[in-house]
Amino acid sequence: MPEVSPERRWFPVCRGEEAAPRHIVHTALLGQELAVWRADDDTVNAWENRCPHRGVRLSVGTNLGDRLKCRYHGWTYASGSGQCVERPAHPGEEPPSLVRAQRFPCVEVDGYVWVRLAGEGDGDPGPGFEPGSTPAGLTLRSIHVFAPAAAVAHALARHAGEASDGSAPEAVDPYLLRSAHTEGAEIRYALQPVADGETFIHASLAKAPPAAERIAVLRRENDRLRTVRDAIETSASS
Ligand code: FES
Repeated sequence: MPEVSPERRWFPVCRGEEAAPRHIVHTALLGQELAVWRADDDTVNAWENRCPHRGVRLSVGTNLGDRLKCRYHGWTYASGSGQCVERPAHPGEEPPSLVRAQRFPCVEVDGYVWVRLAGEGDGDPGPGFEPGSTPAGLTLRSIHVFAPAAAVAHALARHAGEASDGSAPEAVDPYLLRSAHTEGAEIRYALQPVADGETFIHASLAKAPPAAERIAVLRRENDRLRTVRDAIETSASS
């Protein structure tokens, strides 16, 4: 299968719960700044983080539930279509239909919001940790690393298994890894290439632990990811 270009594949950009109602998530993918927000009807939007009017970041605007309002001059854009529906300085005038926020394909799968910057490419694995995989049992705290995705994938394969008694993660492709090291429950890692030299690691357990063990598991896996991050950033700076 041909390797799909990064612009044409899906990446997780935040946990679904981070895109909370009436909130706007500011993130980036491959250097493209994004404003990610959930409408009250559960539609998740991933837009260029730039107002079509004068370029102010939409992430500092207001999520009105079915529209996003820019903080600067109050231009307001509809969920789903991105169409401008209001310009306070032009009351009673219909905004031109061409004025709309730039939208990116966006879908919520496995507990994360996944975004693709360009059209579908040959070999696109689709959104999610693995095609046909079971839904995530427990999403872990995402962790930011100052290193390119390739270095992060390499370091995960080397270090993520060292803190436990299991094997190291194996690469499914350049941005997805998986391991069975967590007491038999598969853990999956998906990398979000934020920009040159910056990556988010998003991880989830395929099977949720018993409720009584949940906090301990979250702490242990968070410690593991911090160990990986420290190893990568230390080696990059030495
Ligand atoms: S810059 Fe957004 S409304 Fe003017």
